Amino acid sequence: MSAQQMLKVFVTRRIPQEGMKILQKAGMCNLSVWDSDEPVPRAELLKGVAGAHGLLCLLSDKIDAEVLDAAGPNLKVISTFSVGFDHLAIDEIKKRGIRVGYTPDVLTDTTAELTVALLLATARRLPEGVEEVKNGGWSTWKPLWLCGYGLSGSTVGVIGLGRIGLAIARRLKPFGVKRLLYTGRQPKPQAQEVDGEYVPLDTLVRESDFVVVSCSLTPDTQGLCDKTFFSKMKKTSIFINTSRGAVVNQEDLFEALSSGQIAAAGLDVTTPEPLPTNHPLLTLKNCVVLPHIGSATYSTRGVMSELTANNLLAGLTGSEMPSELKL
Ligand code: NDP
Ligand code: DGY
Repeated sequence: MSAQQMLKVFVTRRIPQEGMKILQKAGMCNLSVWDSDEPVPRAELLKGVAGAHGLLCLLSDKIDAEVLDAAGPNLKVISTFSVGFDHLAIDEIKKRGIRVGYTPDVLTDTTAELTVALLLATARRLPEGVEEVKNGGWSTWKPLWLCGYGLSGSTVGVIGLGRIGLAIARRLKPFGVKRLLYTGRQPKPQAQEVDGEYVPLDTLVRESDFVVVSCSLTPDTQGLCDKTFFSKMKKTSIFINTSRGAVVNQEDLFEALSSGQIAAAGLDVTTPEPLPTNHPLLTLKNCVVLPHIGSATYSTRGVMSELTANNLLAGLTGSEMPSELKL
C-alpha cells in the first residue's frame, strides 16, 4: 500500500503488544498512538482522531458526537478494548454508519473468577484480616473475631444473567449455594444449567444472601441499586458489583453500609474511576473496593488486544468482524 493509501488509525492508549503487532503487520494502517498508560486528555483525543478511518478506544474514552464530529466522515470503525460499551454514543454512531467492534466472551471467565474472589474476600473479610495481621491486631484465636458469611446453604441473586452472570453462577454453585435467583429483561433457557429461578428484582433483593450485579449499564440500570433497593436487602446480606459503577447510587450504598442496613459490599467498579482516596466508602471496613480489575490477567488482556485489533482491521476493510456489536 502506498503512503497515501494507508488508513489513519488512532489508538487512545498503550495496549498489549499482541494487538499492536497485528495492526503493524497488516501494513495498511498509519498508526497514531497515545503512548501512555494514562488516559488520553480530551483535547488530544479530539486532535488525534481528526481524519481517522479507525479508532481503537478504551472504556475510559467517552466517544460522543463531539469526538465523531472531530473525526469527520472518514471514520468507518470504532473498536473498543472492552465488552461494555456504555461509553459509546451508540445512536450517534449508528446515524453515521460507523461499525463497532467489542470484546465479548474472551474476558467472561476471568471476570467471573474475579467476581468470586471479590465476593469471598468481602464476605469472609479478607482485607480486614490481612490488615490485622500487619498492624498487631491479631492477639490470639478468638471465637467471635472476624466472623463473616459463607456461601454454603445460601441464596445468591444475580442481576443480569448474561455471559458473565452465568459464568459467576456456574462458579458459585459448587460452593453449596442452595438457591440461585436471577433477574433481567427475560428468562434465560441457559439458567437451567445452574438451576436458576427467574424472579422479579424485588424478590431477588429481599431473598438473597448475596446480591451480585453483572448487568450492562443502560438507562434502565443506571442508579438501579439505590436507597429503596438497599432497604429491601437483609441486614446480613452482601452486595457485589462488577458491572459498572453507575448502576449504584454510592451515597445510598454508604448509608446502607454505615447504618448496618446491609452487611458488606464488594465493588470492582465505581463512580468515578479512580475513586478519590478521600471517598467516604473507603473509610468503611465493610466495603472492599478494587480498581476495576475484572478482566486483568495477562492472557485475557492479550487476547482482548488481539480481538480489538482484528475487529478494527475488519472494519477498515469492510469484512466480517470477529466480534461486531449489532447496532
Ligand atoms: P451480556 O450482554 O452478556 O450481559 C448483560 C446482562 O445485563 C444481560 O443478561 C441482560 O439481561 C442484563 N440486563 C440488561 N438490562 C437489564 C435490566 N434492566 N435489569 C437486569 N438485567 C439487565 O454482557 P456480559 O455479561 O459480557 O458483560 C456484562 C457487563 O459486565 C458489561 O456490560 C460490563 O459493563 C461489565 N464488565 C465488567 C468487567 C470488570 O472488569 N469489572 C469486565 C467485563 C465486563 P437480558 O439479556 O435479559 O437483557
Ligand atoms: C469491560 O470489558 O467492559 C471491562 O469493564 C474491562 O474489561
